[in-house]
Amino acid sequence: MQTATPLSPPIVIAHRGASGERPEHTIAAYELAIAQGADVIEPDLVPTSDGHLVARHENEISETTDVADHPEFAARRATKTIDDRAQTGWFTEDFTLAELKTLRAKERLPQLRPGNSAFDGQETIPTLEEVIALAKKHKVAIYPETKHPTYFASIGKGTDAPLVAALKAAGWDSADAPVFIQSFEVKNLQRLKDMTKVRLIQLVDGEGAPADGAAPSYAAMVTPAGLATIATYAFGLGPNKAMLWQGETPAPLVRDAHAAGLRVHPWTYRAENYFLPAAFRRGASPVEHGDVAGEIAAALRLGIDGFFTDFPAIGIKARNDARGVK
Ligand code: G3P
Ligand code: CA
Repeated sequence: MQTATPLSPPIVIAHRGASGERPEHTIAAYELAIAQGADVIEPDLVPTSDGHLVARHENEISETTDVADHPEFAARRATKTIDDRAQTGWFTEDFTLAELKTLRAKERLPQLRPGNSAFDGQETIPTLEEVIALAKKHKVAIYPETKHPTYFASIGKGTDAPLVAALKAAGWDSADAPVFIQSFEVKNLQRLKDMTKVRLIQLVDGEGAPADGAAPSYAAMVTPAGLATIATYAFGLGPNKAMLWQGETPAPLVRDAHAAGLRVHPWTYRAENYFLPAAFRRGASPVEHGDVAGEIAAALRLGIDGFFTDFPAIGIKARNDARGVK
């Protein structure tokens, strides 16, 4: 059963929901994004100890939940090395889904987004199935990201198979299903190519390299030869927005990716001055909002096919203005 959503690019992808206005990766954040008109909602995915996938940006959840306030879980605090980075805290893979559901979400960036803290303690951690059900109810697409696939496979909690199983259970296993699967790693996308027909997106950053060692650098992956390789398994490219520019001059990335047959969905457009390039900041405070609509408009003029934003309402207006839609 297919519930295909007509997606007319450029698409507006609600990054972790409307995460500029609600604590990220909560049903409230996704619902607000949908109400604002987002085409797509983005869950980052990590596993539980009992084989479920839940929406969190990190498997270490002390910054986005009240886990530290739960004495019954104090002994679960641990230090782990994930993708060469040592981290101390509480990790989703050490909790059952039932245990995680006793936690409540909180705002990650209370200093930049103080208004969002008013919603702390109201929401649980959503499961992938809950995100799918919400997307189906409102006929929007989803853009799940597999976080740390090599790490999770190494501890026997691989996320690719349960993700594909959940999508198939939802009737989503075709190239026009309302789904894009994204990853900063390469090898899991190449495996996913043989596991599902849904569209795959290769994420790349302005520095560093994929954690699975599949390429020497992200820079090497965005050369014309690198993009041609990505096009053998992926539908599109998800670059850091800074990679679209060389100073104020367009970088060749959008043109080269399109030449390779890839769509381009940059991340992440955020309204606070703290996240904006100097030309789009307004006022001196990092908390104040600058001209993110102008930043998005400049990217749209480069021909991008969609974009991630924490502020879907602003993104929708910028997209519609670019289309000449009132
Ligand atoms: O998935 C696009 C963008 O979300 C990648 O960065 O760290 O926010 O998941 P991150
Ligand atoms: Ca993401």
